[in-house]
Amino acid sequence: MCGIIGYSGVENSVPKLIEGLKALEYRGYDSAGIAVFTENGISVVKSKGRIANIEKILDTEYPNLESVCGIGHTRWATHGEPSDRNSHPHGTDRIRLVHNGIIENYIQLKKELSACGYSFESDTDTEIASKLIDLNYKTSGDPIKAIKSTVKKLEGSYALGIIFDKYPGKIFAARKDSPLIVALSENGNFIASDIPAVLKHTNRYYQLEQGEIAIVEKDKVTVYDEFGSVANKEVLTADWDVGSAEKGGYEHFMLKEINEEPLAIVNTIRPRIKDGLPCLDLPHLSDEAIKAFKRVSIVACGTAMHAGFIGRTAIETLARIPVKVEIASEFRYRNPILDKEDLVIIISQSGETADSLAALRLSKERGAHTLAIVNVAGSSIAREADSTLYTWAGPEIAVASTKAYTVQISLMYLIATKFALCNGRITKDKAKEYLHTLLTLSPVAVENALVLSAECAKISEKIKNAEHLFYIGRGIDYDIAQEASLKLKEISYIHSEAYAAGEMKHGTISLITDGVPVIAVCTQDHLVEKMISNIKEVKARGAFVLIICKENMQIDKEVADEVLKIPVLSDLFMPIPAMTVLQLVAYHTSVIRGCDVDKPRNLAKSVTVE
Ligand code: M6R
Repeated sequence: MCGIIGYSGVENSVPKLIEGLKALEYRGYDSAGIAVFTENGISVVKSKGRIANIEKILDTEYPNLESVCGIGHTRWATHGEPSDRNSHPHGTDRIRLVHNGIIENYIQLKKELSACGYSFESDTDTEIASKLIDLNYKTSGDPIKAIKSTVKKLEGSYALGIIFDKYPGKIFAARKDSPLIVALSENGNFIASDIPAVLKHTNRYYQLEQGEIAIVEKDKVTVYDEFGSVANKEVLTADWDVGSAEKGGYEHFMLKEINEEPLAIVNTIRPRIKDGLPCLDLPHLSDEAIKAFKRVSIVACGTAMHAGFIGRTAIETLARIPVKVEIASEFRYRNPILDKEDLVIIISQSGETADSLAALRLSKERGAHTLAIVNVAGSSIAREADSTLYTWAGPEIAVASTKAYTVQISLMYLIATKFALCNGRITKDKAKEYLHTLLTLSPVAVENALVLSAECAKISEKIKNAEHLFYIGRGIDYDIAQEASLKLKEISYIHSEAYAAGEMKHGTISLITDGVPVIAVCTQDHLVEKMISNIKEVKARGAFVLIICKENMQIDKEVADEVLKIPVLSDLFMPIPAMTVLQLVAYHTSVIRGCDVDKPRNLAKSVTVE
């Protein structure tokens, strides 16, 4: 989704804004722009396409542009196509504004502004907000009053960065339901959508709360709470270093992040094991509280929801508590039945996904206990949940989620073990055995899976020209298949579907014709024979079959066209090395097809609109 950066300081803001926008590229965007104070008022440079277009315009048309204060934006189109005129910043000669979020009542506001004589250049909801601020600023002459009376009328979500012509050196910021931080450094202060945008300069920041308004100056930051009083803000420190948000010699962030999986598992799990047993260290989730839950719902979107499928299998297998996995955008409008005997687990890498956040709020309203599994510290979901477990994967920059998924499922195994112990379903010795697999054996299995990268690239060669492709599996292998399929389609643009292997013959097998690739995930001893039958069914209809199975499985040569054998863990934990391999298959396919691996078309890293 859109990215915001702003700087007020003693150095030239232009390169800082460009560098900040580049660091936010991972969020997904289709146009970009900046607005800076100059001697002649506010200068705006904006363009459809990549940030390189802005750099080109700056080089050719504004070679000497220098300014100590400005705002910048990467836009992910929602209202109106990607174009120069729809790019941010929007506004008038008096004010310029950048926005992340959606103004839902913009049509009504547009009518009111038209009646006041305003005309519009773009199709965006953002321009309406900017003109409303302009109107209120014209009336009051006071930026804070103008912002306050504007946000009172806005419905929807917003993070705003605003500059006013008569207030050079000051950036005004406000937010509701879209993320925004204020970062503090020796040589000036920043606003940003996310920490990577400022990491080169500082790791100290304030999280802007709902309804707060900040004034950011070169040597001072003032934050007002929703009632207009000066807020006493806690300075937070991000423990991510600059290197963690850079490629570090890898060709793509995605490949770097897959390679970081072993360390991410250790960092996330080791601190939560004491004397070989799980220790969640959550004050509101005592053993008694855990025992009292009758049901668990796991609610999330995309890859995070697929991590929920593994969580469901792990919790139901070990703790024997019924678990439902729900798509957040459906859950929130489905009038879910929840009460205090329910635990709702919200999984989100970014912690800002609009639908997941709404699902969390709804679950709290209905009396359920909410547990968030989040990667970004201080994000909205992390702060609003009753209990939060952070995944310590470090920043994930590639749009395709990889290491975040691996640590999400690792935490699901830890939670399942903890719940099973609390419910008396397993002994302490059994719990220790599971956690030994999780903490010690699984990072090694992932290391060994990474060694198979060249083998994965060979599979990619075989599927690179496919128009359609199927992943099939049974049980937890079907859970894996769903994530593998999403990974492939989002970065290689090959249409793929994940199917429960036994379900193909109930309709979908009609799509199998000569040469259609079918990737069969086959890691479960008790299901292997059934899988082989299903594989034979598609093979008999011409499918090009690739089997992903455990190293120690014997697969008859005639059953498959290709077999990739992967490192072995006990069956319940096989998703960990299996997904590393399947992420690599998706990665290499994307590279071979010449796709933009880290920034696939139409996608955004942090989906802050519903
Ligand atoms: O930040 P979140 O984990 O809440 O994001 C959820 C999905 O948008 C995300 O997992 C998406 O599906 C990824 N692009 C998958 O790689």
